[in-house]
Amino acid sequence: MSVQVKRLEQTSEEQMEACCGTSSAVRTPRDDPQAIRADVSSYYGDVAEQQLDRSAASDCCGSNLYLGEDLSELPAAAVNSSRGCGNPHVIASLQPGEVVLDLGSGGGLDVLLAARQVGEAGFVYGVDMTDRMLELARRNAANVGAANVDFRKGDLEDLPLEDDTVDVIISNCVVNLTPDKGRALEESFRVLKPGGRLAISDIVVDGDLNDLPVSEEDIRAGLSWAGCIAGALSAAELTRLLEAAGFEEIAITFEHRYNSSDFLGELPPSLRRLSDAVLAELIQRFTSSSIRARKPRL
Ligand SMILES: C[S@@+](CC[C@H](N)C(=O)[O-])C[C@H]1O[C@@H](n2cnc3c(N)ncnc32)[C@H](O)[C@@H]1O
Repeated sequence: MSVQVKRLEQTSEEQMEACCGTSSAVRTPRDDPQAIRADVSSYYGDVAEQQLDRSAASDCCGSNLYLGEDLSELPAAAVNSSRGCGNPHVIASLQPGEVVLDLGSGGGLDVLLAARQVGEAGFVYGVDMTDRMLELARRNAANVGAANVDFRKGDLEDLPLEDDTVDVIISNCVVNLTPDKGRALEESFRVLKPGGRLAISDIVVDGDLNDLPVSEEDIRAGLSWAGCIAGALSAAELTRLLEAAGFEEIAITFEHRYNSSDFLGELPPSLRRLSDAVLAELIQRFTSSSIRARKPRL
């Protein structure tokens, strides 16, 4: 089994600014899956609400994470509601005719981009657990007349798709939000066709958090789960869970590294008492990463 962990030391504040909900101040109990789901859904429901309240023709924006993509002709609400931490399209290399699943499809930006790439012969499913996000995504799809998409309500840990259904799974910063990531990866494996690939962006911890003058428990307890940080896995743990689910050809690439300016305003007291140097060391271990893996061919 091939596991590749590449390093890219270069930081990019621009890329990080748009990440998930790093401004969320909610501190979620980590040992309560239902509380995690409720907090995450409430946070992203509010994000959707803001866009649903606006007219469909409101001014568009731009996303630093999607500089390589053509966002023209996509609804402003899809772009404005996007809260990813990377660009799964760069790693997915979608082909015409492929069937794609977007885990945690939010307002539908990644689904609509994928729908263009796979064309009429392909199809894209979006799965999300938040009702208001699903409403927004369906409205966005209708506004652009996307006929090859379907948004389904569901949880990453219990996907509403049959076994061996999709060629490619994409996702932008959602696996970290699930309480049981092992289960979510098993579900991903189940719905992929043999030979199908996982190509997702997510936040991954480079190394571990054990050697700092604050416990990992305190670090994670103080950070926002909805902001995609508290639930981020280490590369080693993510690799272990991917292997346990049955994936092969696993490759994790640290694309961008966070820095203090991304989080300072949100740090809890237990972290604020750390020296600037320790804080900087802690924060730069959180990376926006590309994660690739394949379900074995029969
Ligand atoms: C970080 S946003 C990403 C949305 C979209 N991919 C984008 O880039 O705009 C997270 C989305 O995942 C959904 N989500 C979070 N945890 C989920 C879970 N366990 N199952 C299904 N959806 C989930 C949220 O409702 C939210 O819409």
